[in-house]
Amino acid sequence: MSSYGRSFVVVVLTLFCLFLTQAYGLRKVKPIDDVQPKKTLAVHNQIRAAVGVAPLVWNETVAAYAQRYANKQARAGICQFSDMRHSGGPYGENIAAGWVQPKDQMSGPIAAKFWLTEKPNYDHATNKCKDVCGHYTQMVANQSSSLGCGSFRCHDNELIWIVCDYYPMPVGDANTRPY
Ligand SMILES: *[C@@H]1O[C@H](CO)[C@@H](O)[C@H](O)[C@H]1NC(C)=O
Ligand SMILES: *[C@@H]1O[C@H](CO)[C@@H](O)[C@H](O)[C@H]1NC(C)=O
Repeated sequence: MSSYGRSFVVVVLTLFCLFLTQAYGLRKVKPIDDVQPKKTLAVHNQIRAAVGVAPLVWNETVAAYAQRYANKQARAGICQFSDMRHSGGPYGENIAAGWVQPKDQMSGPIAAKFWLTEKPNYDHATNKCKDVCGHYTQMVANQSSSLGCGSFRCHDNELIWIVCDYYPMPVGDANTRPY
């Protein structure tokens, strides 16, 4: 009886571990699998079309730059939100992070949808943000015509960082509207 009980616990624990390993994807993932270039581009272009802005194209040069920066952050062990900085390069740049999870796991397309939540904060009439809207205005900036993203993971592959760079860098000052 008691040995039956114990093996049951072991089986349950084993199943639970299998489930955790699958759902929480602790295996190594290629950065490009988190970036999902086609979907990331498609989500950006839907968001741009909604305000009448021409689509972006994927730019391999820009994507390679974003991935180099992602690799550099990964090597430096930058995992904390408060430690993350922009790369300070020649491009516009959005960065997002999110945990591995069963649904809406952080990725290029999910990052773009996350930045879209800032849309209500942007007032086109005054060209001002209430609260944060700079990630949104970067996505819809008509001065940018191409995009490239990279990614890295930390905390045993459970935290996913997405870095998207935009070329040309938008002007983004008080007098220049994104569209
Ligand atoms: C991609 O980016 C590079 C470097 O910033 C730039 O020279 C090139 O014109 C871009 N290509 C496209 C298609 O936008
Ligand atoms: C970009 O938006 C600005 C501000 O509305 C507009 O003046 C300009 O003509 C637009 N440029 C393009 C290429 O659509």
